[in-house]
Amino acid sequence: MLTWMPELYNRSLMRMTSFTDEEMMSLIDLAAQLKARRAAGIRGDLLHRKNVALIFEKSSTRTRNSSLIAIRDEGGNAEYLTRPDIHFGKKESVKDTARVLGRIYDGILFRGFAQKTVEDLAKYSGVPVWNGLTDDYHPTQILADLLTIRENFGSLENCTVAYVGDGRNNVANSLMMGCAKAGVRYVCCTPKELWPDERVLAEAEEVARRNGVDVRVFDDPVKGVKGANVLYTDVWVSMGEESKTAERIKLLRPYQINMDLMRATGNIDGRLLFLHCLPAFHDHETDVTRESGALEVTDEVFESKYSKVFDESENRMHTIKALFVSALCDRSAL
Ligand code: CP
Ligand code: NVA
Repeated sequence: MLTWMPELYNRSLMRMTSFTDEEMMSLIDLAAQLKARRAAGIRGDLLHRKNVALIFEKSSTRTRNSSLIAIRDEGGNAEYLTRPDIHFGKKESVKDTARVLGRIYDGILFRGFAQKTVEDLAKYSGVPVWNGLTDDYHPTQILADLLTIRENFGSLENCTVAYVGDGRNNVANSLMMGCAKAGVRYVCCTPKELWPDERVLAEAEEVARRNGVDVRVFDDPVKGVKGANVLYTDVWVSMGEESKTAERIKLLRPYQINMDLMRATGNIDGRLLFLHCLPAFHDHETDVTRESGALEVTDEVFESKYSKVFDESENRMHTIKALFVSALCDRSAL
């Protein structure tokens, strides 16, 4: 018997603060239950005849495929729509598109640039809308990250996550708030130029305080990671910022996660994980790194026993499924 909070029915996810702390943990619990259920070979019909529109302005491997299979596993359908496929924002406003798609679909997952777009989709469509990444936030990623940490450590208690890299990108913003809500200590190691936005930081600090933990920002990565149980990084140049590539590589080189930085945690023989939302520049095998080699993480760390990046990426599907099921499945019909 699956359990989750009834308050999650019909709800949208714009950013980590869209759910209470308890609701967020209920979603992670549901994802763990759905994962176990799939491992037992059960493909149910919790989303039977439900239809979800996947509107993508930016590329995606994990979010797109996780969403598609999450809904299919439970008997529903998803339609992948890119800007050139529909009139979105070109011949038709976001508001009108939302009102059209809301009459046709049961929910909409959006990946793109402006946070306002996903908020307008939610405001005008009348159906649940999920943020699959904007320039500002990446909340579905953080649900998977917290699930992965909990799977490895048994709980989220007494845990410190150190994020090393671009401290004010979408993943960093959502990870900071996700940790604060889960009662996980968060340390951001980033150069002054990329410190988190003051407002986003203050909001996370307040939530962290309420949950008995803190949020700290360091520009010295070696000092910052001391005592950390999770080293987390993301690409140095997010989608849409490609013109900043050279300057970012120069700025963030000292923030690469390598074995020396893993050792600087002091936990190399204890509780220590490496996480990355992926895709990652850890080897020579991409167009970007053919010349430069590894960027934000070395191959040695990426391929080490500490790295749980593929569990983390699998967990994208289970957590997105939890979002769809909790928002769309009418439990009275079960
Ligand atoms: N982590 C993540 O969102 O991956 P994709 O860009 O492949 O969806
Ligand atoms: N910060 C990255 C995350 C990719 C999943 C980006 O926005 O490109």
